[in-house]
Amino acid sequence: MEKIIDENKQGESLILEQKEGNTRKLFIESYGCQMNFSDSEIVASILAKEGYNTTQQLEDADLVLVNTCSIRDKAEQTVRKRLEKYNAIKKINPTMKVGVLGCMAERLKNKFLEEEKIVDLVVGPDAYKDLPNLLSEVNEGRDAINVILSKEETYGDISPVRLDSNGVTAFVSITRGCDNMCTFCVVPFTRGRERSRDPQSILEEVNDLWSKGYKEVTLLGQNVDSYLWYGGGLKKDFDKASELQKATATNFAKLLELCAEAQPKMRIRFSTSNPQDMTMDVIETMVKYNNICNYIHLPVQSGSNRILKAMNRQHTREEYFELIDNIKRLIPDCAISQDMISGFPTETEEDHQDTLSLMEHVKYDFGFMFAYSERPGTLAERKMEDDVPEDTKKRRLNEIIQLQQKHGLYRTQQHLGKVEEVLIEKSSKKSDAHWSGRNSQNTVVVFPKENYKVGDFVNVKITDCTSATLIGEALGYSINN
Ligand code: SAH
Ligand code: F3S
Repeated sequence: MEKIIDENKQGESLILEQKEGNTRKLFIESYGCQMNFSDSEIVASILAKEGYNTTQQLEDADLVLVNTCSIRDKAEQTVRKRLEKYNAIKKINPTMKVGVLGCMAERLKNKFLEEEKIVDLVVGPDAYKDLPNLLSEVNEGRDAINVILSKEETYGDISPVRLDSNGVTAFVSITRGCDNMCTFCVVPFTRGRERSRDPQSILEEVNDLWSKGYKEVTLLGQNVDSYLWYGGGLKKDFDKASELQKATATNFAKLLELCAEAQPKMRIRFSTSNPQDMTMDVIETMVKYNNICNYIHLPVQSGSNRILKAMNRQHTREEYFELIDNIKRLIPDCAISQDMISGFPTETEEDHQDTLSLMEHVKYDFGFMFAYSERPGTLAERKMEDDVPEDTKKRRLNEIIQLQQKHGLYRTQQHLGKVEEVLIEKSSKKSDAHWSGRNSQNTVVVFPKENYKVGDFVNVKITDCTSATLIGEALGYSINN
């Protein structure tokens, strides 16, 4: 692979890995969660072997792939709009083929080929290795589809082609699927049962990234704390494993430790943690290793015990507080972020107040907040009426967002006057004279460039802040540089 620096729309430098001799052009774009972006890198790697290099120009593409999200109705509508755009391009470039990947492919299956004439190819999240076969079908003029979910597939043997990379931070997927069956969530249906990736292949990927100059990895899974490697197979079949397999199994705390020790200067992050699965040994491992960042994304969805139960979240408000208190006791400066849903079926004003008071207790550093969107096939859709009026959902969502902004500012203000280590990722969007990076807590820090460069670890004195960004000045390289 050769590295090419490309200037994209925002004028940022992106590193595109290109394989010499490849003549076909792949345009691939991703919507939704980080896992989708990471999967697209696996797809690009599979197709690099089939003669495709990626292009940033939709008009030039021989093959257009869109990696889709089904989490909310709006996410699906966004993809439908993109298909209209591809349709317009196909009029100019009639040999261009269009494929749909990811969660919408899995959810809609054949219906996609029927509903969207532009689509030639439909591939679910576990079937990407079948792409070469499917493409030969398509190139012979037939539609092709594979949406079979797998018990084993983790793509552990595929070395991803980094797309849109800053060359500094990368995602490494460690689990696939989810067994939690939150009643609102479509993921268990689109991504199948939970399985973990071989720790050896994770370590190889982390080491390879370090050798290529990357300085930070984020270990990815729908539910990372539930990671469990016992030689392969589904998480739910662990009970049937042999005594030896059980005794030598690797859990998430152990995996974190292996990664932190393999590359002591590399920053290690992880996402997402489910409160019901996060254990003390994970928190203790974070304490033990300086290179594991002090940040936990810990979605709660609601502050009401009644709603948590209806959502099939396996913990109470009180147990969540206990977890937060344990984190803050062991790692006082740990940042915590949330996901919240407003207007889940039957949510009353009192339930909503419980959400606001939970937020008041935790004072999250960041948050990702959504109005409930009913998803076909989920338990909530089958058993509950979507009975909170849209304007009530919106009003509650706005209240949640406003409170989060207040807490965001409270948290950023705590950094004022401190000196923090920042890993430089890119130019600031607002000013070309400033770098943008993140501190251990995952807060964006902006400061004058001076002679520093992308990928440097720098000590920055924090002098000012907004509710989401810290502003400062560099004092020099940090010991990790
Ligand atoms: N375990 C995954 C969750 C993926 S979905 C992860 O941790 O990232 C990401 C977020 O989308 C969820 O935490 C939830 O807040 C939100 N979400 C999921 N289904 C939703 C729905 N039907 N309506 C609104 N928001 C939803
Ligand atoms: Fe969805 Fe709950 Fe899993 S939100 S991804 S079912 S943890």
